[in-house]
Amino acid sequence: MMTIRVLIVEDESLIRWSLRQKFEERGYRVAEAEDGRSATQALDTGTYDLIMLDYKLPDLTGLELLRRIRKVDDEVVVIMMTAYSTIESAVEAIKLGAFDYITKPFQMEQLLFTVDKALETTKLRREVRELRRHLQEEYGDDSILGQHPSMTKLLEMINQIAKTGVSTVLLRGETGTGKDLVARVIHRNSERAAHPLVNITCTALSESLLESELFGHERGAFTDAKTQKKGLLELADGGTIFLDEIGDMPPALQAKLLRFLEERKFRRVGGTKEITVDVRVIAATNRDIEKAIEEGKFRRDLMYRLNVVTVVLPPLRARGDDIRLLTQHFVARFMREFKKPVTRVNEPAYEKLYNYGWPGNVRELRNVIERAMLLCKRDELGQDDIVLGRAEQQPWISDLEHFALPPNGFDFEKLRSLERQLLRQALARTNNNQSRAAKLLNLSRDRLRYRLQKHGLL
Ligand SMILES: Nc1ncnc2c1ncn2[C@@H]1O[C@H](COP(=O)(O)OP(=O)(O)OP(=O)(O)O)[C@@H](O)[C@H]1O
Ligand SMILES: [Mg+2]
Repeated sequence: MMTIRVLIVEDESLIRWSLRQKFEERGYRVAEAEDGRSATQALDTGTYDLIMLDYKLPDLTGLELLRRIRKVDDEVVVIMMTAYSTIESAVEAIKLGAFDYITKPFQMEQLLFTVDKALETTKLRREVRELRRHLQEEYGDDSILGQHPSMTKLLEMINQIAKTGVSTVLLRGETGTGKDLVARVIHRNSERAAHPLVNITCTALSESLLESELFGHERGAFTDAKTQKKGLLELADGGTIFLDEIGDMPPALQAKLLRFLEERKFRRVGGTKEITVDVRVIAATNRDIEKAIEEGKFRRDLMYRLNVVTVVLPPLRARGDDIRLLTQHFVARFMREFKKPVTRVNEPAYEKLYNYGWPGNVRELRNVIERAMLLCKRDELGQDDIVLGRAEQQPWISDLEHFALPPNGFDFEKLRSLERQLLRQALARTNNNQSRAAKLLNLSRDRLRYRLQKHGLL
């Protein structure tokens, strides 16, 4: 627990003395000033958590001093002490950012109560600041990196979504491809940025809890509902709600969500009043929703409703040289964080990174680089520093077996362009070495050449 530092600005020495007694009893560190001049000096040389400020000082008013304090420090909590006759100025002081005022003569108890409230506020403010700093660190480089064509398209799309009034967005992509990140970026770049982004993971809660979290409940709606509670949809009003893992939402709730998406209205659990809110819904899933629909676990109509704008985040293994770009980004980041002089990644290490399937996508890459940076004893990362999981064999090939025809059909021509992309990536990754590219694609060299020719890549 940090020592609390208090500055008492008061010309009557008896009041100064009695305040000091009380504060020191509580373990605070106390400084005193008897006029504006010495107060200014004390402020110049020290920092305080709390300032007790007399309204009437010999050389200037407390209000003037408060104005000066606010110029240099807009966080310190100030409590004005004023005689009854100057209460109007005390109100003025509140406008200038004093936390509260007490009238003289005061009851010590009442004063300490006000002090406690003030310090509580300081503590909360600090926590918020700390939290914000932490968030910024965590999400600080909150930009979506990527130069692969699929990513430039994606970024364009995200930009457009952010700038327009699209009310429902579905994010699809394997785990670790950046769905959370994209949701944050959309929110932050939209007109809604000043309002909350509320996050809820549909897997984390039981059906009834999830329902009351989302829609809120009235008092007495169920046994534990001792008070009325607003749901996240209400809290997100004006902003964005991010429904993560939507594929896991219990069916009964899916129906209620669908109704909300259609009417933008809902009722609290146990309530009768219709509540209207203005929120953008961003839903995300890393699951095969088509399969869930086939199996009757996900409502087709909800899928259509969510599907208005769908953003598909490509898996890392399909993003070609983005692996290099992201690797460099993470190396730079952990270099700073761990204060380690590892600045480079050698080519064999890159090759290892390229030849891996990355089932955990960008998150997995980040973890692999983090670990490598921690353990590396030289100034460059080599092959041995890169420790990969078992999924060396590209797991998405086997995913194809489960590929289901999407509800809106599929453009067969895409297969052609997919083939072309694979060929180009194989060449890029092997620095145009055809034998190695052929091996990557499990083709003979002749068949590779035939295909390259077909696509005009030779
Ligand atoms: N394009 C990118 N550029 C930079 N960092 C990225 C990118 N994509 C993902 N990341 C980072 O990778 C990590 C995982 O991303 P995120 O949590 O958004 O994935 P997700 O798709 O929500 O995964 P899951 O399905 O498991 O929830 C985060 O630290 C995120 O910042
Ligand atoms: Mg996520």
